[in-house]
Amino acid sequence: RRVAALISGRGSNMAALLAAAEDPAYPAEIALVLSNRADAAGLAHAASRGVATAVVESRAFRGDRAGFEAAMEAEFAKHGIELIALAGFMRVLTEGFVARWEGRLINIHPSLLPCFPGLDTHARALAAGVRLHGCTVHLVTAGVDEGPILVQAAVPVLPEDDEAALAARVLAEEHRLYRAALAWLAAGQVRVEAGRAVLSGVPA
Ligand code: GRF
Repeated sequence: RRVAALISGRGSNMAALLAAAEDPAYPAEIALVLSNRADAAGLAHAASRGVATAVVESRAFRGDRAGFEAAMEAEFAKHGIELIALAGFMRVLTEGFVARWEGRLINIHPSLLPCFPGLDTHARALAAGVRLHGCTVHLVTAGVDEGPILVQAAVPVLPEDDEAALAARVLAEEHRLYRAALAWLAAGQVRVEAGRAVLSGVPA
């Protein structure tokens, strides 16, 4: 399946997907890396791997989210995109976009949802004093960080942790989880029943 990875910055999750997709047995191909910012560091990495890149500047569409999304979808059409993986993509998508890509659009979020949706998850986890933190891959629905959960990984929060140390521990799990979740989606192993994701052929 042809996948677009959407980024806004560093792109380390996108890079993990690219690395996974280098295995011919991996069921997804990263056919496009699209950023809403021309200065996203991940674009250079994708280009260096010979992956098509596109920039659709969200700033150029201020107040016109539908126009921004139409420009992105023109790129998806050009590259025959079938699935979308949000990978540190910092724009909220409209209900219309989410509905058009329902079941074909996933996100990775750096917390154990439904705890800590939104931004600054590591600082908030430290402030809350939780002993476990982690990351979640979920299908995207209209509510931000609310879609059916595909998989989660937990990491301990250690007494000496600062935000950077905790973020790094979570990020290593993100990279592992995201490549697995995209493979399940691309291989048709994900369906939604009563608002929850059901995985078939995935060891518990
Ligand atoms: C990751 O922590 C991801 O979960 C969150 O934004 C961060 C992006 O990092 N949505 P990167 O661009 O993938 O390195």
